[in-house]
Amino acid sequence: MLVTGKAILHHAHENEYAVGAFNVNNMEQVQAIIEAAEETKSPVIIQASQGGLQYAGVEYIAQMAKVAAEKASVPVAIHLDHGTDFKQIMLCIRNGFTSVMIDGSHYELEENIRKTKQIVEMAHAVGVSVEAELGKIGGTEDDISVDEKDATYTDPDEAEKFVAETGIDSLAIAVGTAHGPYKGEPKLDFDRIKIIKERLNMPIVLHGSSGVPEESIKKAVSLGINKINIDTDIRMVFHKAVKEFIASNPDTYDPRKIVGPARKAMKEVIAEKMNMFGSSDKAWK
Ligand code: G3H
Ligand code: 13P
Ligand code: ZN
Repeated sequence: MLVTGKAILHHAHENEYAVGAFNVNNMEQVQAIIEAAEETKSPVIIQASQGGLQYAGVEYIAQMAKVAAEKASVPVAIHLDHGTDFKQIMLCIRNGFTSVMIDGSHYELEENIRKTKQIVEMAHAVGVSVEAELGKIGGTEDDISVDEKDATYTDPDEAEKFVAETGIDSLAIAVGTAHGPYKGEPKLDFDRIKIIKERLNMPIVLHGSSGVPEESIKKAVSLGINKINIDTDIRMVFHKAVKEFIASNPDTYDPRKIVGPARKAMKEVIAEKMNMFGSSDKAWK
């Protein structure tokens, strides 16, 4: 069942759980996500980054995700991850994405507001949901000083102003996570999550969630995170499964035999995440 990002995140916000948003670049990832969602009876978000769209093509990603969503018994949204470009966002909407992210986090606040508002006006006019970002999530860092933290983490006052002026449906916040593999253990600023949730009372999003320990994820969800982005953990399980298969079957050249076990391994990891995020058994008709 294809639905908007807003419908999925509104349900998660009202019922206090988080939905997994998993990045895709190919058919096997789309299928792994849907199989896991069906097995755990979870609503789910299939998302593609700029890189993913460049690799597969926006039409291929959109059509694969649409077939998957329409065949599924669980609610599925198709989302653009870290959109930066007006034209690309328009193209995704035209191809059937039901949710888009505009990432203006590298701009000054007023410019981020201006760019985000423009996307909200256009997307909402055609019933598409919008996620935006405030604060800097960035790449992996071993440790971060208090000064750096204040400069880069999402400021609750700014978040309130940003939401009021843009009319977005969900906000991605910087609270200590980073994209890609972590060198040390990530330390989340739970107080900040709590304050932002209380002030905004709307769906909030955690990026860079691969490699974050289970207890931290569960605590973040209990404090109000409603969308959890996962990419790296799926890439890693894909890589491990393909590597192991080729090591034990060096002469097998059939792509189905090489990639099939990776699809199964990805499905298992995704289902575990869904249980961890609290989205299992939350699918509605
Ligand atoms: O948020 C970033 C995602 O992990 C996408 O990464 O640009 O390599 O597709 P990518
Ligand atoms: P990870 O690759 O660290 O899981 O981050 C994914 C993400 O935030 C996509 O937007
Ligand atoms: Zn991200």
